[in-house]
Amino acid sequence: MSKNKYTVTAALPYANGPLHLGHVAGVYLPSDIFVRFLRMNQHDVAFICGSDEHGAAITLRAKKDGTSPQEIVDKYNGVIRKAFEDFGISFDIFHRTSEKIHHETAQDFFKVLEEKGHFTKETTQQYFDEEHDQFLADRYITGTCPNCKNENAYGDQCESCGSTLSPTDLINPKSTLSGKELVMKETSHWYLPMERHEEWLTQWIKEGKLNGVQQHDPKKWRNQVTGQCMSWIDSGLRSRAMTRDLEWGVKVPVKGADGKVLYVWLDAPIGYISATKQWALDNGNDWKDYWTGDRKLVHFIGKDNIVFHAIIFPILLKAHEGLILPDNVPAYEFLNLEGDKFSTSRNWAVWLHEYIADYPEKLDELKYVLTSIAPETKDSEFTWKEYQTRINSELADILGNFVNRALVLTQKYYDGIVPELGELTAYDKEVLYQMEAIPGRISQLVYDYKLRDAQAEAMNLARLGNKYLADTEPWKLVKTDAKRVETIMNIALQITANLSIVLQPFIPATAQKLSEFLNFNSSDWSEAGKNNLIIAGASTNKPFILFSKIEDEMVAKEVAKLEESKVVEVNHTPQKEEASFEEFTKMDIRTGEILEAEKVKKANKLLKLLVDTGLDQRTIVSGIAEHYSPEDIIGKKVSVLMNLAPRKIRGVESQGMILMAENEKGELSFVVPEKDFISGSEVR
Ligand code: 2FM
Ligand code: ZN
Repeated sequence: MSKNKYTVTAALPYANGPLHLGHVAGVYLPSDIFVRFLRMNQHDVAFICGSDEHGAAITLRAKKDGTSPQEIVDKYNGVIRKAFEDFGISFDIFHRTSEKIHHETAQDFFKVLEEKGHFTKETTQQYFDEEHDQFLADRYITGTCPNCKNENAYGDQCESCGSTLSPTDLINPKSTLSGKELVMKETSHWYLPMERHEEWLTQWIKEGKLNGVQQHDPKKWRNQVTGQCMSWIDSGLRSRAMTRDLEWGVKVPVKGADGKVLYVWLDAPIGYISATKQWALDNGNDWKDYWTGDRKLVHFIGKDNIVFHAIIFPILLKAHEGLILPDNVPAYEFLNLEGDKFSTSRNWAVWLHEYIADYPEKLDELKYVLTSIAPETKDSEFTWKEYQTRINSELADILGNFVNRALVLTQKYYDGIVPELGELTAYDKEVLYQMEAIPGRISQLVYDYKLRDAQAEAMNLARLGNKYLADTEPWKLVKTDAKRVETIMNIALQITANLSIVLQPFIPATAQKLSEFLNFNSSDWSEAGKNNLIIAGASTNKPFILFSKIEDEMVAKEVAKLEESKVVEVNHTPQKEEASFEEFTKMDIRTGEILEAEKVKKANKLLKLLVDTGLDQRTIVSGIAEHYSPEDIIGKKVSVLMNLAPRKIRGVESQGMILMAENEKGELSFVVPEKDFISGSEVR
């Protein structure tokens, strides 16, 4: 197997909040698996990430929390960094786009492109919020997505369908700051005329060729990546602004650009380069070795980042000259949670740092489950029930059971010493043949970015072992054919050793435990498949249970926690049509007091009330029976709409209406004056 060079990046998370399982399943875990596998195959790898600390995602969060952008990025860079470390994502560097080296790198990059004439400076009308005296773009504008009709799409992308937008694409655009409609005002910006790049991009994406030279294998690109890019190109690339009128960000490094910063989607991907620079500096290397020559650049991202990584960044890289373009952009679809989308604002999420704090000994379990359900080709769903099932019936019952049997029987029959491999039966040969084939199949799947199937293939080795022991039944045979049992147990231990290799990319801590059970340690993928990894006469250790079963109580507790901490989003009904003052004054509203209350027969929702209105005592039928029982409301102060035309409700004449407020949950409350006013006081 030839050794390749890889620069693997994982999308820089915005430092505006913690990570949830959707982020982990769709970017960080798959990239980590891929890199661990590459390292085991002795490829030369740099694994790059960091936090994305500019853009409206940060400044809006700071505004919401009443703090500064700097405080927000410092806080969440810390939270995210720690979660990655604790979870064991093996980045070579986790950098920050607020670092000086990044600002310099991004500015140099901009200047190179500016000098080469790759930008145009254009003066256009842009959305402006008069109340806040600010030009708006990106997340500062929300509106309806023209593609999926999501009403909360941003001015640069829709997080619901993943499409990339411009502010003018939005239907009913509104200011995020004031909630108001926007006006247009003139401003100047540097634009990237993307239409100049349509031709080469088409050939590069469809055929993998650049200037006729093969660069990558387009068949290895996921359909949704090629599809999204081509649909963008086919609808005609347009010029896109690469600068913004904002304070927070990388300053535009040319004269006459005061108050302007680089567009976050220009500066963030350059963050991959500046992170590499810092890492190279720390290790005495040259960063250029990781961005030039015959290196494969691979970007792991979520589907909402496709266009930025497979069109815009490649344009920038090519325009800069001398830098490599991505070999692949494995993009993930979205992971849902218990039947709904992950949502930070609704707090509908399982937060990685919370999971780690609650279940520090179950990190591999989570990795295994997330890889099993990873949204590789379509959206998928995490449920705690499936988490339980996968762990109990796969990790515990198959992998855990097999390893435990192999090691416990070795302890019991041979005091932990590996027995000899004797004469092989046809069945033994078949099992060893299958074991030998598995690593190659896993490799192929990993190189094709099919990590879900790759993990399933690794588990097939545990299935094979489990079946082998169940079929050969050494625990019965030991009484009649001790020699044969030696061979069976030797094979079972070889399978266990193989598992310690092939599981390493996916569940590294478990693989490490297997190594410790066996006193065998190899991170060399080329060893996998061999039937002599463990030598007869070597000693093994007493095992412990690898995976404890997930109880129903844990599932119930986690589902309840989600429901309890869920924030219900309030969708207020829009304001009604204008009413004139005269129309309002027509209504006679007064305070009153409930004197009597009883249920209306055969009407679950209605109470018949006798109300003292100051003017009189009258009967009013009110639809509050599901919220109040008659005995609880006698003596209650209320507001009464006096001159509502009387009408018969279930045979009872109602002379007016009691005013009630209703909240987002449909709960009712009487509307009463805050002071103890006498009945009959007018409300106006
Ligand atoms: O979508 C996001 O979360 C962005 N912060 C990803 C940036 S990836 C790269 F370009 F930096
Ligand atoms: Zn959309």
